Amino acid sequence: MESKTLKIASIPGDGTGPEVTAEAIKVLAAVAEIEKFHFEVEPLDWGGDRYLRTGEIIPEGGLDLLRTKDAVFLGAIGHPDVAPGILEKGLLLDLRFKLDQYINLRPVKLLPGVETPLAGRKPSDIDFVVVRENTEDLYCGVGGYLKKDTPDEVAVQQAIYTRKGCERCIRWAFEYTRQRNSPKKMLTLVAKTNVLTFGHDLWYRTFEEVAKEYPDVKTDYNHVDACCMWMVKNPDYYDVIVTTNMFGDIITDLGGILQGGMGVAAGGNLNPDSGGVSMFEPMGGSAPKYAGQNVINPIAAINAMAMLLEHSGFPIAGRKIDAAVAAVTGTKMKSQAAGKMGYSTEEVGDLVVESLS
Ligand code: IPM
Ligand code: MN
Repeated sequence: MESKTLKIASIPGDGTGPEVTAEAIKVLAAVAEIEKFHFEVEPLDWGGDRYLRTGEIIPEGGLDLLRTKDAVFLGAIGHPDVAPGILEKGLLLDLRFKLDQYINLRPVKLLPGVETPLAGRKPSDIDFVVVRENTEDLYCGVGGYLKKDTPDEVAVQQAIYTRKGCERCIRWAFEYTRQRNSPKKMLTLVAKTNVLTFGHDLWYRTFEEVAKEYPDVKTDYNHVDACCMWMVKNPDYYDVIVTTNMFGDIITDLGGILQGGMGVAAGGNLNPDSGGVSMFEPMGGSAPKYAGQNVINPIAAINAMAMLLEHSGFPIAGRKIDAAVAAVTGTKMKSQAAGKMGYSTEEVGDLVVESLS
């Protein structure tokens, strides 16, 4: 891999997005020097400010530009002067759909020194991964109104599930569970087959069928409501969870808080097909009230950069960042909350860089 130049498009985005992105790129530069590989980052000014200025969210030719890259790094989107939903749909969801990033990978891992709201739980108790389908379900935007703005108004919002869509996600999750190769080696399907008797029946049947190709992986099923209780009561039960888009959105915020909150949680939107372009992001939002103050936690963004490297052919560099982050959370930072870390945003980035070597 040494001769390959890693080409990244960076969309720092809104609010504190640019600050955390800068720290992630700082850490990338440091690990690239240690691991001796080249990288290029092309910064793109997509986000709320550009939208307010130009009315454009993804500029013309933008998708084709991203397709020439090895990966995309997204800081944060969400602007106080832009109505909710516009940037989410026009940027984040549009990129997920148009780049066909059909896996949303969200590790739930409690790092050393990080506080979890679950009493008495240690890092070894909270270490599982959620594989969320990322292109279907209620996220498709299929629906409509009847008699809008009248007392008889009807709104319909459809959940779409396709055999192709669930099968590729489920198969990827089995493969991932096999490769993760934890002592549990267990894949839990999380759905709601007792109520969603069509869509989630398709998921269940597909899961059972694909499972036959993976006799070494233990299979398991939870209804989503029970899963929420179990994640709190027995997080150590889980290894890998595969789930639908909407449920995955909800349970990964629960997972995010179990692992210490939005300051640390990161995710990847993967298109694992050959030639596919994946996008990595910290899970916290743009936190506009902290913007420009150098107090936001960059650890989630740095974790997202580690995931980017791991999934773009530089797994050793990714693991080096993971180890450096664990050293910093475990021995330096006072808290993972913005403004309470004991260090500024830039200082946390510097500490990770120092811990790399
Ligand atoms: C996430 C976010 C997005 C989602 C929003 C911002 C559209 O909550 O990445 O989990 O619902 O997928
Ligand atoms: Mn979410």
